Amino acid sequence: MVTAVAQRLASQRKEIDDTLATFTLSTTQLQEVKAKMRVELERGLKKDTHPTASVKMLPTYVYRTPDGTERGKYLALDLGGTNFRVLVVKIRTGMRNSVRMYNKIYAIPLEIMQGTGEELFDHIVQCISDFLDYMGMKNTRLPLGFTFSFPCNQTGIDKGDLVSWTKGFKATDCEGYDVVDMLREAIKRRNEFDLDIVAIVNDTVGTMMTCAYEDPKCQIGLIAGTGSNVCYMEEMKNIELVEGDEGQMCVNTEWGGFGENDNIEDIRTRYDREVDGGSLNPGKQRFEKMTSGMYLGEIVRQILIDLTKRGLLFRGRITERLKTKGIFETKFLSQIERYSSHLWHKLRSILQSLGLDSTCDDSIIVKEVCGAVSRRAAQLCGAGMAAIVDKIRENRGLDHLEITVGVDGTLYKLHPHFSTILKDTVRELAPNCKVDFILSEDGSGKGAALITAVIDKYLYAMRFSDETLRDIMARFRREMENGLGGDTNPTATVKMLPTFVRSIPDGSEKGDFIALDLGGSNFRILRVKVSHEKKQTVQMESQIYETPEDIIHGSGSRLFDHVAECLGDFMEKQKIKDKKLPVGFTFSFPYLDFLLNPAVLLTWTKRFKASGVEGMDVVKLLNKAIKKRGDYDADIMAVVNDTVGTMMTCGFDDQRCEVGIIIGTGTNACYMEELRHIDMVEGDEGRMCINTEWGAFGDDGTLEDIRTEFDREIDRGSLNPGKQLFEKMVSGMYMGELVRLILVKMAKEGLLFEGRITPELLTKGKFETKHVSAIEKSKEGLTKAKEILTRLGVEPSEDDCIAVQHVCAIVSFRSANLIAATLGAILTRLKDNKNSPRLRTTVGIDGSLYKMHPQYSRRLHKTVRRLVPESDVRFLLSESGSGKGAAMVTAWASRLQNAFMHHV
Ligand code: G6P
Ligand code: G6P
Ligand code: BGC
Ligand code: BGC
Repeated sequence: MVTAVAQRLASQRKEIDDTLATFTLSTTQLQEVKAKMRVELERGLKKDTHPTASVKMLPTYVYRTPDGTERGKYLALDLGGTNFRVLVVKIRTGMRNSVRMYNKIYAIPLEIMQGTGEELFDHIVQCISDFLDYMGMKNTRLPLGFTFSFPCNQTGIDKGDLVSWTKGFKATDCEGYDVVDMLREAIKRRNEFDLDIVAIVNDTVGTMMTCAYEDPKCQIGLIAGTGSNVCYMEEMKNIELVEGDEGQMCVNTEWGGFGENDNIEDIRTRYDREVDGGSLNPGKQRFEKMTSGMYLGEIVRQILIDLTKRGLLFRGRITERLKTKGIFETKFLSQIERYSSHLWHKLRSILQSLGLDSTCDDSIIVKEVCGAVSRRAAQLCGAGMAAIVDKIRENRGLDHLEITVGVDGTLYKLHPHFSTILKDTVRELAPNCKVDFILSEDGSGKGAALITAVIDKYLYAMRFSDETLRDIMARFRREMENGLGGDTNPTATVKMLPTFVRSIPDGSEKGDFIALDLGGSNFRILRVKVSHEKKQTVQMESQIYETPEDIIHGSGSRLFDHVAECLGDFMEKQKIKDKKLPVGFTFSFPYLDFLLNPAVLLTWTKRFKASGVEGMDVVKLLNKAIKKRGDYDADIMAVVNDTVGTMMTCGFDDQRCEVGIIIGTGTNACYMEELRHIDMVEGDEGRMCINTEWGAFGDDGTLEDIRTEFDREIDRGSLNPGKQLFEKMVSGMYMGELVRLILVKMAKEGLLFEGRITPELLTKGKFETKHVSAIEKSKEGLTKAKEILTRLGVEPSEDDCIAVQHVCAIVSFRSANLIAATLGAILTRLKDNKNSPRLRTTVGIDGSLYKMHPQYSRRLHKTVRRLVPESDVRFLLSESGSGKGAAMVTAWASRLQNAFMHHV
């Protein structure tokens, strides 16, 4: 009995092994493939054999790879791979590595891929139109390069007749026609914008050029993606289809057609024939159908059907799913092969997601089938590549060739073993060549590109054109005017609070002060000594104190007891408990000021929510707490918002400073306004600092059109729903959380982490703004992303990391853009107040987000310069927090008080 079962199992095993053996190629067989490929390459190049050659060796009219001197701004289309993209590419003068790209991915629905040519090109032009709108570039007639990933008979760089569609395309009335003409006509039909189409480029050529820009040794381009193809730099004298013998030209081999003349029938299997028979172009692209992403899954599916029919798999049951063409995408192949067989439960769950109910044995067999099919594909590409590099080596009469291949394509990028097997095969079959492979950075990976597409779709609303930013700038200017006007102030959302600070430090301040600094990420107490021997000098000592959650969310009296206790401790340590030093209080919240003192808190913001403080005078509350202790005395001279403290600190070093902004836990700005415009304060002469409290911008609904579902979710979960809506879109307290919410949603839709959602990922606050900063670092960012995401338990892939980096960039970029708009409004107001054609000014800045984020400051400065071109703005970082500035205000206040006292 036992032996009978064992025998049956053994014979089943043998049947499976025999089937898979037809996919195993010996070194001799691979060498034959290489030799046959070489013959076809030559036949394609020669005039008399070209018409019947299976490898067409198409001239591209690209005579050289880039040398780094290229420059300019171009539009590009990229059609024929997994994604259709429209891009703008900026190349700066004479420097390598200075290319910038913006792109958007558009869907091409199946009915358009396989509809009429006119529909296809109209759709393409519609996408271009959308992109130009999106980039605000409708009126700039840019040169356009068209990456068109299909075989074209070119007679010039901008002329190419489509030979035949491949892969999933089959639009009518295109084959035999010039693709550039068809695009031009579609642009004309739309009659909305004009473009110069300067080049049509195969994706292999585009990839070679992209990589050659980084590495001049790159003279071959390989695509192992949906389709399969290679181009390389050939000697002109060998290209008989083109006149001239001098120099080189890039040849698009179109090796996907290899085998069309039946010369590799010996290695094709019945499964290959079945896949070919069911394809859009039977008999064509036979090599491509054995090697590229569009077909490998189909081959696997054919084998699985056969094994099932023979009772070797899935208990002999063929399900509807298995009969469905295309269910087995290459990405599943890559996933299945990523797990080793003992992780069969993982394999099984992938199969289950495909609707295939498998046993443990089934899963292992499926994995073997995938392995056999993809291994053969990689080896065949390797054999083809060996033929190419050897040809180049012989062309140049070299014994040894060193060369680089630029590669792109989903199969190469996503499959766990494809690239290794490919490289091993090339090494074995072309021992006289040292071949390096570099990945095309263009779009940074299929997964990334694919996910970028989705992210961009998701986060489309987070990207603003300059036009939108100018519009937001205008809205904020109106808000400022409302806040300043006597009639409109009571209902204004942006409060524009007068501060009674009338000038920045003038250099005459001196004395010994204490400063409290409450409301940012740290609660700090400082001692500031300003002396005046020859030159004004400032000496500071400070200490940070904790502000535990239960205290900032508890009762107001407890909070101020705590502040008083810390102050007592500080004075004790400074040995000044017996003195009554003037105290300046940086209080980073919106409060109403009546000649500096008292200061009535309007509303808590950020992390604070102590009860019984809103509507109260915080100086009174603090004095009460100090008195209650009775162990020291303090004279609270001035309350200062952190923006004002920052402006004063920076004003100490730069007399031109007239704006202070905070981009930290919260965000806000103050600036010097003409008194005559401030209706709330009497007098018309001179200026006064206004604390704008711009965090509340949008609280009346003005920003609804730009708020996203994620912003609304953040607001709902905050301590102050409905308030500080602008702050919640931009400041450090919320940024990490915004990213987390986006990641959760994407994971839920299966776009990230293979759909895995962990409890950590679902926990509020687990993704912090400092993580955004770490992930956006240019060098170690992706490593950081991996670390951070791993800590959240999600096992991120490389593509996940790239995608998360992209999400972070979009969110932080939006923040910098929005701040640029509101700051831009303040700057233009200052300029108008001064009535001068150009504004020269300094902005003092502080805050953890601005300081820690690697790209933030640069982006902010750049956008401000773009939005307010008629200005020269210096951004000055406050080096010592707002404590120093608070001391300056205190100095001024105590002088005022003394004068007042003497007067009475
Ligand atoms: C690059 C090119 C595409 C090309 C693709 C191949 O990204 O820009 O035009 O077709 O690689 O990869 P895929 O796997 O998407 O077919
Ligand atoms: C300065 C001030 C703080 C202020 C902070 C903002 O350092 O001294 O009072 O609130 O900047 O930054 P943060 O990122 O800590 O909120
Ligand atoms: C096309 C080639 C293209 C390749 C890779 C093939 O189907 O014929 O022109 O380079 O796919 O995208
Ligand atoms: C407060 C402002 C403060 C800003 C930066 C906001 O939440 O309302 O008063 O300046 O945070 O700390």
